Parts: sequence; structure tokens; C-alpha cells
Amino acid sequence: MTNTVVLGAQWGDEGKAKITDILASKADFIIRYQGGCNAGHTVVANNTTYKFHLVPSGILYGGKVCFIGTGTVIYPEAFKSETDELKSQGVNLSGLKISPLASVTMPYHIEIDGYSETHAGKGKIGTTKKGIGPTYTDKAARIGLKIQDLYDEETLSEKLDVILPIKNKTLSKVYGLEEYSKECITELCKKYAEIFRPYVCFNWQELLEQHKNDRILFEGAQGVMLDIDWGTYPFVTSSNPIGGGAAVGSGFGPKVIDEVIGVAKAYVTRVGEGPFVTELKDETGKEIQETGHEFGVTTGRPRRCGWFDAVTMRYAVQVGGITKIALTKLDVFDKFDEIEICTAYKDTRTGEITKYYPTDVYTHKYFEPVYETMPGWKTDITGIKEFDKLPENTKKYIKRLEEILNTPISIVSVGPDRVQTIFRD
Ligand code: GDP
Ligand code: IMO
Ligand code: MG
Repeated sequence: MTNTVVLGAQWGDEGKAKITDILASKADFIIRYQGGCNAGHTVVANNTTYKFHLVPSGILYGGKVCFIGTGTVIYPEAFKSETDELKSQGVNLSGLKISPLASVTMPYHIEIDGYSETHAGKGKIGTTKKGIGPTYTDKAARIGLKIQDLYDEETLSEKLDVILPIKNKTLSKVYGLEEYSKECITELCKKYAEIFRPYVCFNWQELLEQHKNDRILFEGAQGVMLDIDWGTYPFVTSSNPIGGGAAVGSGFGPKVIDEVIGVAKAYVTRVGEGPFVTELKDETGKEIQETGHEFGVTTGRPRRCGWFDAVTMRYAVQVGGITKIALTKLDVFDKFDEIEICTAYKDTRTGEITKYYPTDVYTHKYFEPVYETMPGWKTDITGIKEFDKLPENTKKYIKRLEEILNTPISIVSVGPDRVQTIFRD
């Protein structure tokens, strides 16, 4: 029995949901371990497109237990919209459970996120404005609400007496935003309690115990380069998408994890601000964006595009704990004459070539990508189901990446649909 973490190895939107969905068919218990509704996950199955933000995509297989773990942050209204939408698509949510220890995003978190983004000037992160940073900030500052607090009047009242004076002062004095009365927040919390009631799993300890010998799939959101500790800080999200995050946010310890699949596109995309050494601001970048339909699921923003960056990917393998790679969107290159792989960075200040990722992102403007050119395959690969049937140049490209990354590429994705996937092991 293999327990697997599926996580993004780049800056998010790598096609994690597609890979999780496929692997979920063989798992019994699926856990989302971090992030919130900043995530936008797409699965195409049976000619239908499903969009997820918080709900693990494994829910599409009726009967699987899908657990939204303690490491997540949840805005109740967004959770309601998502579950309503899935129900309207006929998805059976009976296996969906939420940890009562997950953090609640409150309306003021979203207001603060919006305000900060609008007034940050050069410090703008380009967040999804879903209140993610401010919710994790309050969690770390120990003034956050957990889902379990919504069900105990006395606890809630006691906590609000501590939280609200601080929060209101910050809202009005720092941000010039409206304050919240205790009555108003208490009413909101009652409403939120009802939204979560069918799903909140108070006996989660028993649930985890029941599933400890089952096949567990840990679903990450965002990606290693957006990790709060290891990503392109400060242009990151506020949680830990890395493999270690699965142990923190799920309730299972690190020894339960057998393998970590890092999902990476055959190129790189990024939404929001922050450095991106292989970014293409030319026609090729546009071609990748259009062919790959690179527009955000959550915000609709166009994704910045660039060539595959093996420097950040090797780094992601190291700090993300990645043991295998799922390479997605290879089909986007079907019409390309040539494909570039960035194997190293050149420091234009010294001329030095490095294959190690420079962690001070403010210096990235001085780094240029060093490329290795691979020939394209000029063939439609979207219908190919076996690795051996891929064009020679596609196989060469994949094998070269494996060499450069020193990590096996065990899954290759050649289209958005479940069936457009090639397994190599
Ligand atoms: P996630 O956030 O990592 O789950 O990825 P998103 O869903 O935000 O973005 C990935 C997009 O690429 C989605 O629209 C997927 O349907 C699509 N996709 C996934 N794999 C492939 C692939 O191999 N080829 C193509 N053309 N599209 C893919
Ligand atoms: P999935 O799970 C891509 C980015 C935002 C911004 C930064 C911080 O679909 O891969 P936040 O709202 O989290 O405070 O924003 O992180 N970001 C994502 N980019 N995919 C995501 O999720 C993302 N979630 C957050 O664009 O740059
Ligand atoms: Mg996404």
C-alpha cells in the first residue's frame, strides 16, 4: 500500500487536480492539507468540467472519504458556493468531511486582503483577494477562529471578547475599514455553523484511526515556489504546499507518506507578482498562453508563461521532498519547432553560471536563463496512451528532463481529460 502526496512543483496550476483525480480512483481516503479557496482546480471527466477550490477532487468517485484538513483556511460562503455548484452537477458529497480544527476566513480577512493589495504599491503580491494571508496571520497570531468554535456559544463568546477589540482597532485605525459588533459576528458564526454542519467531523480522531491502514492520498494546493517558507518570498501564499505540509496539515505524521509526486507543466506559469526568470514576454509566451488556455480558474487572470525552469524544479524536488514527477501539458508543444529547457542561471553581475536556485528573489533581475534547445515533435500527441507510442522527440525531451532533474517522470499528461494520461510505472 502506497500513501501518496500530490503537490504542485512550480507556482501553482500545474494540473494537480487532474493527477489527484486519477490517483484517487485507487485511494480510500483523500485529504486536502493546506490553502483555501485561493486554489482553483479543474478536472475534466466524462465530458464534464468540474471546478474545485477546497473540496478534494477525489469526491468525483462516489464512496471515497474526502477530508478537508486542519491546515486549511475556509471561507464559509465560498465553501457553500462550491458545494452548491458540485451538487448541481450531480456530484455526491456524502463522503465529504471537514476538520473542526480548520481555520475560518471571516469577511474582515477578505476586506484586509483587498485593502492591502490595492494600497501596497510596489509591495503588491497579486493575491487572489480571498483573505488567505490575513486568515493565516490571525492563526499565527493566535486570534483566529476554528470551525469548532462556531458550535460552542461560550467558547465563541470568550474568543470574540479577545479577538474583536484587537481586530476592530486594526480594521479602523490601520485600514480605515468598518468595525464589527460582537452581535454581528455572532450572527455570522451561527450562519457559518449551519453551512458546515453536514460536513464537520467532530470524531476526526476516530476517522483517521479507521483509515490509517487504508491507501491515503494527500492533495496539495498552490505549489512549492509559492510556499511561505521555501517559495519566492514575499511573493508567495501563506501556507506550506511542500510535502512536509501534508504531515502538518493532515493529522497523519510524516512516516505515513511513502511517495511525493510533484506535478509540473512542460513549461512554467505564474499568476500574480514576483520574479520569474524564464518568463517570456514575447510572441512565444503568448502562444503558450493561448495554446495552454492559461487563464486562472479562481480569478480569471491571465497566467504569465515561460520555458521550463530546471533550476527551480531541482530546488522544488529538494525542498518539496519530491520523489516522482507528473509532467503535464506536453501537448501544448505539439506544434512547436523547438523547445527550450532552462538548465542553469547566469548571474549577469559576475558571469557566473549556477544550477542552484538563488534564494534572494530581489536579485533575480540579474539572472538570465541558460537554455538547452530540444527539437519539437510536430505531432498531435493528445490521443496517445502509451509511452512507447510517443514520437521519438517527445520521449527524448522527457528523458532529458529526467536526467537534468535526476528524478523519474512517472506520469505524462497529454490533455485535460482523465483518459489523456500515460503511466510509466
Ligand atoms: P491545478 O490548480 O494544479 O489543479 O491546475 P488548474 O486546474 O488550475 O490548471 C490546469 C489546467 O490545465 C486545467 O484547465 C486542466 O484541465 C488543464 N490540463 C491539465 N493537464 C493538462 C494536459 O496535459 N494538457 C492540457 N492541454 N491541459 C491540461
Ligand atoms: P492552485 O491550487 C496559482 C498565488 C496568487 C499570488 C500568491 C498569493 O490552483 O494551484 P494568496 O491569495 O494565496 O494570498 O496569493 O499566490 N496563488 C496561486 N497561483 N495557483 C494557485 O492555486 C494559487 N493560489 C495562490 O496569484 O501570486
Ligand atoms: Mg489552479
